[in-house]
Amino acid sequence: MCGIVGYVGHRDVKDFLLEGLHRLEYRGYDSAGIAVMGRDGISIRKKVGKVRELASLIESSPVTGKSGIGHTRWATHGEPSDINSHPHTGGNGEVIIVHNGVIENYQTLKNQLMELGYTFRSATDTEVIAHLIAHHYEEQLRLGEDPADVRTCVKAIEISLRKLKGTYGLGVMFRDQPGLVIGARNGSPLVIGIGKGEYFLASDASPLVGYTTEVVYLSDHEIAILTPERMDLLHRDTGKMSPSIQTLNHVSTDIELNGYEHYMLKEIFEQPQTIENAIRGRLDDEEATARFGGLNLTPQQLRSIDRIVLTACGTSWHAGLVGEYLIEEFARVPVEVEYASELRYRNPPMSDRTMVFAITQSGETADTLAAMRECKRKGMPTLAICNTVGSSIAREADGGIYLHAGPEIGVASTKAFTSQVTVLTLLALFLGRMRNLSYSAGKRIIENLRKMPDLAAKTLQCNEVVQAIAEKYYQRENFLYMGRLYNFPVALEGALKLKEISYIHAEGYPAAEMKHGPIALISEETPSVFVVPKCAIYPKVISNIEEVKARKGPVIAIACESDETIADLADEVIYVPDVDEFLQPILTAIPLQLLAYHIAILRGCNVDRPRNLAKSVTVE
Ligand code: G6P
Repeated sequence: MCGIVGYVGHRDVKDFLLEGLHRLEYRGYDSAGIAVMGRDGISIRKKVGKVRELASLIESSPVTGKSGIGHTRWATHGEPSDINSHPHTGGNGEVIIVHNGVIENYQTLKNQLMELGYTFRSATDTEVIAHLIAHHYEEQLRLGEDPADVRTCVKAIEISLRKLKGTYGLGVMFRDQPGLVIGARNGSPLVIGIGKGEYFLASDASPLVGYTTEVVYLSDHEIAILTPERMDLLHRDTGKMSPSIQTLNHVSTDIELNGYEHYMLKEIFEQPQTIENAIRGRLDDEEATARFGGLNLTPQQLRSIDRIVLTACGTSWHAGLVGEYLIEEFARVPVEVEYASELRYRNPPMSDRTMVFAITQSGETADTLAAMRECKRKGMPTLAICNTVGSSIAREADGGIYLHAGPEIGVASTKAFTSQVTVLTLLALFLGRMRNLSYSAGKRIIENLRKMPDLAAKTLQCNEVVQAIAEKYYQRENFLYMGRLYNFPVALEGALKLKEISYIHAEGYPAAEMKHGPIALISEETPSVFVVPKCAIYPKVISNIEEVKARKGPVIAIACESDETIADLADEVIYVPDVDEFLQPILTAIPLQLLAYHIAILRGCNVDRPRNLAKSVTVE
């Protein structure tokens, strides 16, 4: 979703802004723009389309300066167009802003500002903020405040922000204040990078990699005032505050393609490593359990938990479904998996013995953050299973478990899913060993978990087979994905992957539910992907496949290597190594990721940046 970059210092700002916007492309966007403060004032260049198109525009119409802000836009209010792209200006151009988030009372504010004589150029909610700040800036000047004083600008911003309802991450510049960039946050993430005689601003840390390792994550209602010489932090309610400086751990190669054609493919192939990272240091052979450094709950608190709520969106929600099966089986604690967008407005009965886990790759998904806050407000212990260190959810949770999967750039989540499932397996083991799970059962889980990185590597050998299958079926317009028990969430995830990046309609279903509806869709034209590794109810899934075959539906099966008969029944088979049922999702998800990838490539789709989607959904 929308990305922000900003800079004050000694560099030619356009290079940093364009590079930063390029690194933020993965979030998903439809247009891009920058504003640069040069000797002759502010220059704005903005354009619908890709960052490279903005770069060509700047090449033909250059800008130079040492401070500026930039933005990649993912349309919420107003279609993608040059005019609706950011930056936007307020008043007569005295205020320039970029904005992430959604202003809910923008229409009321717009009406008020129009009555005051402000003319709106775009259809965005953002322009309201620009005019509002310009209005209060003018008001300050009328009251006799000094236009050359930074405090006048800050005052105008503070007054304006109090009038906004909704979410924002903002980068603001003032035409009459060269070398000043102000960042403000409520609900949309912002991070400040500290350099020598320079400061950086960004909506996530990726643009800062290689420029600095010292960062300050802004919290809600904080304002950062940046000039080349200094950074001041203010909180809406408490005023001036001292920054909490953290070290950025990313290494620059993390966001390189490393020879892969797409981030999605690179991330699929990283899974042996990322699964290993999720396990590393967390297996306790002595006690036959898992250990976590950051849950921040006492053993007494953990033992008294009588219910667990897992809340998430998208792929992370699918991982949560696998988590439900794992935790209920091993720890015997009732689990509910809630869409965060529903949970935030629902009022299910919960007690202080209910433990809530927000599962999220980015740590910034607006609904997941809001659901977590709502649970926290009600007093539940609220933890996070999160990939992005320093993200809003990671920072606001009472404790949690990091995935350590490294940055995930492809919009369609892949490695985060298998890492989430791995961490949830560890969690189930940990909670189980505090309750009824025996020492020997714990030992067996540990032994099998240890094998998973190698087995994931072995699974990836199916790539060529999957590619050949993709070539056969890529022109179909509908797919069904079916699985049971641990592989039902995998079927949902497989269908989601295909939808997201190839724009083919796909539905995931528990295989036995097929008779209650999807069977009507079966025809020679509709392939059914069955996730059917050996399990307790394997023969029942085989019956479901027979039902599809009886109706001439093509079947693609994801099956165990030891399955000697499936090839007689299914049209295509992709084999994965044999593992215990509860570990199968980590392996069976991989061929489905590859299938979606190859089909999307054959259809000419942009797999890393699928249309309309965003990597990090920071609006409701
Ligand atoms: C977006 C992404 C998905 C992701 C979901 C939840 O929709 O495109 O890939 O699964 O958000 O994101 P999170 O970062 O909270 O896991």
